[in-house]
Amino acid sequence: MKKILTLSMLICLSGPVFAEPSSLVAYDRETRALIRDGNVDNGQKLAKSAKCKKCHSMNGIAEDSDDPNIAGMSATYIFKQLKDYKDETRSEKSMVKAVKKLSDQDISDLSAYYATQQLSAAAHATESVPVLVHYGDRKRMVRACNSCHGQNGEGGMYDMPALNGQSKGYFVATMEEFKEEDRTNDIYWRMRDIAKELSEDEIEELANYYSAVDPDGDEDDEDEDEDDEDEDKE
Ligand code: HEC
Ligand code: HEC
Repeated sequence: MKKILTLSMLICLSGPVFAEPSSLVAYDRETRALIRDGNVDNGQKLAKSAKCKKCHSMNGIAEDSDDPNIAGMSATYIFKQLKDYKDETRSEKSMVKAVKKLSDQDISDLSAYYATQQLSAAAHATESVPVLVHYGDRKRMVRACNSCHGQNGEGGMYDMPALNGQSKGYFVATMEEFKEEDRTNDIYWRMRDIAKELSEDEIEELANYYSAVDPDGDEDDEDEDEDDEDEDKE
């Protein structure tokens, strides 16, 4: 009898799992102002002193393919990820440790700094384009990747990250994590639901496409010519 009581009490206390929020970040006025006023110079100092440099380099392009490239991602996206690690709604040991002692202002400054670094120019205009990128798949209710991730994969508003120039190892790993629900900080299940629909081969193909970087890439990459995209806008 005693045992049963304890067990049911435990179940009550732990509550339903689905009630946990995927992120505690809301882009309210206060948060937007904090992100907008991030101090790039201070962020640059912090990137050294808080050791971000060790894994992501000062220019945001990681040396190891398991570490994500964060150069040129929007400050709003970077800010959310760092806060998610701090709240542990996204958990990965080295990142949770790296942000532990940072204040919201530090996080804003770091986000501002890495957002000013150059996003890799993608070479993918010349490659064959996976259908999912611009069209998605209505049957599986998968929207076109670029309808959220920017017309050329350069990233969208707020929490929609740039995918261009992402390292392949990290791209595949994080997609697998969405699929397996090991990464759950995507608000409204937007990425988990999509990743679950994709095969390993499709993920591999998408990772190849987005990670291909133009060897002499700079601002004037030729992607602009490919304007017949994003039919799937809603
Ligand atoms: C020991 C290596 C290491 C250090 C130090 C480190 N990072 Fe990371 N960082 C990683 C790894 C690995 C990931 C991917 C973790 C995961 O899968 O969740 C990551 C993820 C991130 C992400 C999310 C990227 C994305 O595309 O979603 C951001 C932003 C980031 N780090 C910024 C920073 C900043 C800023 C610092 C310094 C305060 C820092 N990192 C320190 C290794 C590191
Ligand atoms: C409905 C909008 C939406 C669509 C469509 C979408 N994504 Fe995402 N994706 C997101 C959001 C939002 C995030 C960031 C989640 C978070 O807050 O961490 C994300 C994150 C990702 C990440 C992790 C990036 C990083 O740096 O950690 C990858 C990889 C990714 N998406 C690939 C894809 C691919 C490939 C497709 C097409 C098959 C796709 N996405 C379609 C909204 C979308």
